[in-house]
Amino acid sequence: MSSKTVVLGVCGGIAAYKALDVVSRLKKKNFDVHVIMTESACEFVTPLSFQSLSQNMVIKDMFDEPKAWEIQHISLAKKADLMLIVPATANVIGKVANGIADDMLSTTIMATKAPVVFSPAMNTNMYKNPIVQANIEKLKGFGYTFINPDSGRLACGDNGEGKLPDTSYIAEYVTSMLYDIKDLKGKKVLVTAGPTVAPVDPVRFIGNNSSGKMGYAIAEEARDRGAEVTLISGPCELKAPFGLNIVNVNTTEEMYNSVLEHFDDSNIVIKAAAVADYKPKVYSEKKIKKSEDDLTIEFERSRDILKTLGEKKTNQILVGFAAESNDLIENATKKIKKKNLDYIVANDITQKDTGFSSDDNLVTILSKYGDSYTLDKMPKKLVARELFNLLCKKR
Ligand code: CTP
Repeated sequence: MSSKTVVLGVCGGIAAYKALDVVSRLKKKNFDVHVIMTESACEFVTPLSFQSLSQNMVIKDMFDEPKAWEIQHISLAKKADLMLIVPATANVIGKVANGIADDMLSTTIMATKAPVVFSPAMNTNMYKNPIVQANIEKLKGFGYTFINPDSGRLACGDNGEGKLPDTSYIAEYVTSMLYDIKDLKGKKVLVTAGPTVAPVDPVRFIGNNSSGKMGYAIAEEARDRGAEVTLISGPCELKAPFGLNIVNVNTTEEMYNSVLEHFDDSNIVIKAAAVADYKPKVYSEKKIKKSEDDLTIEFERSRDILKTLGEKKTNQILVGFAAESNDLIENATKKIKKKNLDYIVANDITQKDTGFSSDDNLVTILSKYGDSYTLDKMPKKLVARELFNLLCKKR
């Protein structure tokens, strides 16, 4: 994507070693990363490690000799598109909340006009200390952003809140904040993803191969572009992305109810879920025992969620998916009409390395106006981007 500048402040906590991975992830996303370390951070990790990963000089304190005729904390404060503090200790939070600027990191935070994101990590009791909490609230009130810490086993052996979230999560968070296109600001986007399942008895169900990757990528793209996103997800292995209102469902019925609950309020609705079209006519409350005979289960149709939405539609942009093994364009075009859609994303499921479970997809997007866009094979995240580029284009 971009070559935007992230200034990463590293404080003295055991999670400082994880900040190395944050640098590595941000570099892979093509950000220019400059690291400022507090004196105590240098006790945990060496500046050389940060220098090697960021490929920039690491700044340690205010009295390092300037490399050029510029005042370092001011020049970095100006250069930053975003400042990220990992791990944010009680100390740095307390300093900034009280206007103390006595080292390179705190002075740069004070001097920057860029958004500042704190990712706190510390002992649970420290994190929950009312002084720390009051400082966090105070800083939030001034517009500073906080990434909530996870709960779990902490380095000190305690269990509780205060763990640094996954470095991938922090990197995604920053990428999302720095995303250039914010054309969905003020819009509400509803996305469905993953499979729905049809239970047969207490231990068995009928499911399908949907991994949820396409729907999750769409929801994340909408979030990054500024939308308020509700993701209704069938059971899948994917980690819950940040910043989404996630509703977990299992059956088609549950997805139907949840989608209808959110529909009226949505501007754009994208139904990427692979919905189970049939369910057993009779659900067996008891586990079905095997016998010598063959087993026949009778199925009945589940409700067609998308068709119902097409009937209820007012101003919403409605997007469906079509997984086809033959006559891709013809079948997808029929579905646009049958379900009263604005767009349909059609993919050929016979292709190898695309579609279900894979990271890439090969799709054609058709509109109700009769135009069609065949995209090259590309990662699902990019398919999601192309889809919104199309949906946001003025007609
Ligand atoms: N869909 C739905 N409710 C269902 C079935 C499908 O909302 N009960 C949605 C899917 O989320 C997807 C689109 O409808 O957006 C797929 O249309 P569909 O006609 O069901 O396609 P297929 O499932 O591929 O059906 P077919 O076997 O008829 O091709």
